[in-house]
Amino acid sequence: MAQIKTLNGFRDFALVESSELYLKKSGGEIAGQLFRFEDQGGRDISIRPEVTPSLARLVAARQREFQKPMKWFQMGQCFRYERPQKGRLREFYQYNVDLIGEDSLEADVELIALSIEVMRELGFKAGDFVVRLSHRSAWKEFCKDLINNNGLREGEEEIVDEELELFNEVVSLVDKWEKLSENKIEEELKAFNYPVTYQQIKEFIDSPDVSELNEIVVKVDLTIIRGLAYYTGTVFEVFDLKNDMRAVAGGGRYDDLIKTLSDGAIDLPVIGFGMGDVVLRNLIEETPQALIKMEAALRAKSVCDVFCIIVEEDQRGKAGQLVTELRQAGIKTDYSLTKQKMGKQFQKAEQLRARFAIVVGSEFPTVQVKNLNERTEEVLEYGENFIEKLQNKLDDFDAGMLA
Ligand code: HAM
Repeated sequence: MAQIKTLNGFRDFALVESSELYLKKSGGEIAGQLFRFEDQGGRDISIRPEVTPSLARLVAARQREFQKPMKWFQMGQCFRYERPQKGRLREFYQYNVDLIGEDSLEADVELIALSIEVMRELGFKAGDFVVRLSHRSAWKEFCKDLINNNGLREGEEEIVDEELELFNEVVSLVDKWEKLSENKIEEELKAFNYPVTYQQIKEFIDSPDVSELNEIVVKVDLTIIRGLAYYTGTVFEVFDLKNDMRAVAGGGRYDDLIKTLSDGAIDLPVIGFGMGDVVLRNLIEETPQALIKMEAALRAKSVCDVFCIIVEEDQRGKAGQLVTELRQAGIKTDYSLTKQKMGKQFQKAEQLRARFAIVVGSEFPTVQVKNLNERTEEVLEYGENFIEKLQNKLDDFDAGMLA
């Protein structure tokens, strides 16, 4: 098999990085959710709350070695000092996919389509989830128009600053839009340095016209802001359709992060997303067909294919021989190390999600092979072709795996 060249030579990125990387690059909420401490060398470090800044740092350092566009994925733990609640824990797994070096809309479409494909592969159907899509430049335009229409255009510098300030204020409010009452929003708007009304923002949200997104068919929703500081364009989140859970996945385009991390030396646009295991698990548990699929997958990936049941202790030697041969053939096999009643041994086989139990009794080399998913059984001779027959059974699509 061809050797796959990985970005860092390892399966995963470092679990800790300098705190500065997250404070400056992730920004937003994450900056206040770091597991942050000083190491023995006096350095200010943090356990990673996400992997995007590490990816950008590595790409900036090693991009020359790779063809563009670079396609990258990773799965690993992240840690955020959040209040543990439904859908949010302090330790979770994230699946990340990023496409580096391509700024066309096709790349955005490809990544959004992939997030949908992952959901379908997990067993979700169209009615179970929705992708909510937005574009940060829509809000930049909104702020620019507000300032221009009010005749505040004075000097170039000033406009840029005003826009940025207003943009930051508006997006942090819109980020909370669905959670706040109209009164609370009005209250927050009073504290803005620039006059903006509830109605102005609401009208903009209610009639989204984002030309950058016209070709992508998902729900355009301008309340999707994404709390991370590095996003520059398209942003999207995947939600359960009932919308009573936190986001299952979130991502977007961050075209400037690699550039800033390399002090302007490397300019590579990126679009990517991260999907977490916690909300996914909750949603799977509430969606019957996804739950069935997950359980089937767990069974198929069980740590034990075959459990050998020893009926009487004086057959332990023969059973041991059988177990060794199965293991040598690459079949994951287990058995009870001590004398146990048959019922207990079957219980253990179920716990391990074994697909087959082989019962070794006084008729050995004649054995019973029980399919634990289908609840069927067959009598086979242990000897010639036994392993092959068993292997075929394991390879066969197993009806029990779907139910
Ligand atoms: P994020 O929206 O912060 O984006 O996280 C992505 C996903 O990780 C969330 O939708 C959620 O499923 C999961 N997640 C986040 N925090 C927690 C938590 N405390 N407990 C459980 N799950 C959580 C990012 O992290 C970006 N770096 C994603 C990205 C990759 N953007 C471009 N490439």
